[in-house]
Amino acid sequence: MSADLTAIDPDRLIAEVLVEEGALQARIAELGDELSRDYASLEPLLVGVLKGAVFFMADLVRRITVPCEIDFMAVSSYGSGTDSSGVVRILKDLDANIEGRHVLIVEDIVDSGLTLSYLVRNLQARRPATLEVCALLTKPERRKTDITCRYVGFEIPNRFAIGYGLDYGERYRSLPYVAALDESRLPDDLL
Ligand code: IMP
Ligand code: MG
Repeated sequence: MSADLTAIDPDRLIAEVLVEEGALQARIAELGDELSRDYASLEPLLVGVLKGAVFFMADLVRRITVPCEIDFMAVSSYGSGTDSSGVVRILKDLDANIEGRHVLIVEDIVDSGLTLSYLVRNLQARRPATLEVCALLTKPERRKTDITCRYVGFEIPNRFAIGYGLDYGERYRSLPYVAALDESRLPDDLL
């Protein structure tokens, strides 16, 4: 972690680094290789889930060496706190028709899995040729559905993660690494 965090973290909510920048980038390069092999000649459509997956999507797609397209969806899954409600609303839908396409959902993190299971059901109904999930992070301990992710960057412990796209109250997305939020410094009712 860089020496002076007071400017970006005035409330000192960064507890510790969970995944260093170098490890993130190395793993994303590996995922890029794997996807380039698996999707050679399939022209996949990568569907990023806004806003958290934007940084991962941008780095991942630059590691894919076969033709692919990108699109984005925005869904709401959280209120102001840190727990999934299970109620998912589509705020922005895809631009593209995905029928017959090879679709890969690109997610920042799978926590309860409720958001993802909704998305998978929703996109499956549009009859893509294939539908898989690539998640940068997963918290297996928290899973409430039996959703499977074909591609996973890292399994992390049951901590609230921030950085590299992940926010707490819209902050910390721009950190180049993934850190754990210091939950002991938050008011009780937020977690
Ligand atoms: P799920 O429905 O519980 O799997 O949560 C899905 C969404 O909640 C993710 O796509 C994130 O946007 C957000 N989320 C879940 N866990 C975390 C976390 O630890 N930090 C930041 N956002 C999270
Ligand atoms: Mg997300």
